[in-house]
Amino acid sequence: MAPGLWVLGAVALAGCGGDHSVVQPKGPEAARIAALSWFMFGLAGVITVVVFVLLAVGLFRRGSGEADPRWWRPLVIGGGAVLPGIVLATLSGLTVWALSTDPGSEPGEVHITVVGRQYFWDVAYEGTAAVTANEIHIPVDTPVRLRLESTDVIHSFWVPALAGKVDMIPGKTNHLTIRADEPGTYRGQCAELCGIQHANMALEVIATPRAEFDRWLTNQAREAAEPSSATEQRGLEVFTSHACAGCHTIRGTSAEATVGPDLTHVAERRTLAALTIPNDRAHLQDWILNAQSVKPGAAMPDLAMSDADADALVAYLSGLR
Ligand code: CUA
Repeated sequence: MAPGLWVLGAVALAGCGGDHSVVQPKGPEAARIAALSWFMFGLAGVITVVVFVLLAVGLFRRGSGEADPRWWRPLVIGGGAVLPGIVLATLSGLTVWALSTDPGSEPGEVHITVVGRQYFWDVAYEGTAAVTANEIHIPVDTPVRLRLESTDVIHSFWVPALAGKVDMIPGKTNHLTIRADEPGTYRGQCAELCGIQHANMALEVIATPRAEFDRWLTNQAREAAEPSSATEQRGLEVFTSHACAGCHTIRGTSAEATVGPDLTHVAERRTLAALTIPNDRAHLQDWILNAQSVKPGAAMPDLAMSDADADALVAYLSGLR
């Protein structure tokens, strides 16, 4: 095989493991898709072998006289029309089954609205004040009904370990049920080209035992922590007097804009800018001052402010747990 093909094969196989594997399902929706994938792979393998055997027979029988219409007519009609018809109808039925989302309602289920935005995910928990971004916490072994929406362009919600892709279309609400069999962190990715930072529009679904989820949700529903030092107080003033408050909400303060992510509990998140950078003080400061270098094309502008103001702002935001 040419070296290029080896590289191509290695790259293709690399997609079979890791965070985005569709053949390592961690929930029933994804398990149906994985089962369908294996079935199609097996069926395609059998059909390929049969076709190559028939091809070989044809080649070796070349020149051995007239073909006998008693067997080639049923072969052409059966193998060329009837069998493909049966195979395609079966696969269509199985695909509808694999992609159907359970519409039932179960006690304890969780309802979440996820809105795709250029380039992050707004995550609101129905029945509570909790709004977060880019991290969807869910209780394990519980159906989670997602309402998927967009306010700008078409995005696509895809967490391969838990379910198939569903587009998020402006003006339309799509529905998806996810359910995680075991605790864990499952990476997701926007799967529809939505602009320059499409590749940096990732998310995490974090599945935890119910009690832990309930504690997390109760905390997320609270208003923001009060500043606990003079520096943090200064940071809050910087936030509300600079451009920050023109785009973000911090519940419990005068900042109530909804252009960017809700920052009420931003320090609880593992990453910033939809998994682009880790959420620590150094990266937060860099993000505030140089967002357009970190994620060019994101709606977050480079904020011109003094180092002292930036330090105070970072101190304040880092306390929002
Ligand atoms: Cu959003 Cu791609």
